Amino acid sequence: MAGIDDLRQIGERFDGEKARAADRSSLEELHARYLSRKSGLLTLEMQRLRELPADQRPAFGKLANRLKQRIESELAEREAALAGEERSAREETEALDVSLPGSRPRIGHRHPITLARRAIEDIFLAMGYTVEDGPEVETTYNNFDALNIGPEHPSRDESDTFYISDDIVLRTQTSPVQIRTMERQPPPIRIICPGRVFRRDELDATHSPMFHQIEGLVVDEGISFGDLKGTLDLLHRQFFGERTRTRLRPSYFPFTEPSAEVDVSCEFCESRGCRVCKHTGWIEMMGAGMVHPAVYDCVGYDTARYSGFAFGLGIDRYAMLKYGIDDIPLLFQNDMRFLSQF
Ligand code: DAH
Repeated sequence: MAGIDDLRQIGERFDGEKARAADRSSLEELHARYLSRKSGLLTLEMQRLRELPADQRPAFGKLANRLKQRIESELAEREAALAGEERSAREETEALDVSLPGSRPRIGHRHPITLARRAIEDIFLAMGYTVEDGPEVETTYNNFDALNIGPEHPSRDESDTFYISDDIVLRTQTSPVQIRTMERQPPPIRIICPGRVFRRDELDATHSPMFHQIEGLVVDEGISFGDLKGTLDLLHRQFFGERTRTRLRPSYFPFTEPSAEVDVSCEFCESRGCRVCKHTGWIEMMGAGMVHPAVYDCVGYDTARYSGFAFGLGIDRYAMLKYGIDDIPLLFQNDMRFLSQF
């Protein structure tokens, strides 16, 4: 009974190999080894049915089919058991303890310069000003000539200003937005223009090659120096606090006449004198003045009818004073330990 003995051997061999199959891929291999259509050990054995004497065929066929069913069902059973083990192992390692406290997501912070800019913008918006924008790459005409800054003025020097070409620069101030606005529209004008400006300075505690300004411009009939002073006084009381006083000192700018340097009282020492105010009790905050007739001439405004004031302040300076920051690089290094305090 050669055929039947062979079947028995196949069955025993299968039992041995099944016992050693430790994972699902070896079960798949076993399935192929015994039952694949072309080369499975049992498949091939079953094909030998035809070679057997007719009287042995029924018994062989029956045994072979039973073996086939047994292999199939045992492999399926083992497969299911392994899948169960894998699942419980995974559940073990991936277990979630929903009672653990969560880790708080880091949320963003507004940059102190943004905070200061928005606070200043809000103060002027409440007074009826609009916010104007201008390009950072500007003509020398708008940045210098139209502002009455003469061809020999030192601020035009290549060691101070970034030149793109002979007549194009990175703007060194937000004042050119005055020119753009007045060229576009007649008075009355009440605008502020926040933006970045650029100068050839090395970054250190008190300088940066890029910083932020807000330009202000008011032109209408009957605007006086008193309006300028009242406006800046209100700005400082609202921005720094009601006790803050504003002082104007005579100064010079080519685009204003008269011109003033504007100080605020030092709130660190209540004007008694300290390191921040260099023992003067006052801190210099901006330049300002009455718009120079030469500027009106450039934009074609009637100087007999209109007058106005302008000012230019450094936002970074306002932010530093308000938040007690004493080092400019901190504003630009994007250090989260610094930024997350705001
Ligand atoms: N543009 C000047 C600067 O960057 C600041 C300034 C001074 C602007 C007086 C003005 C002004 O509008 O009237 O130093």
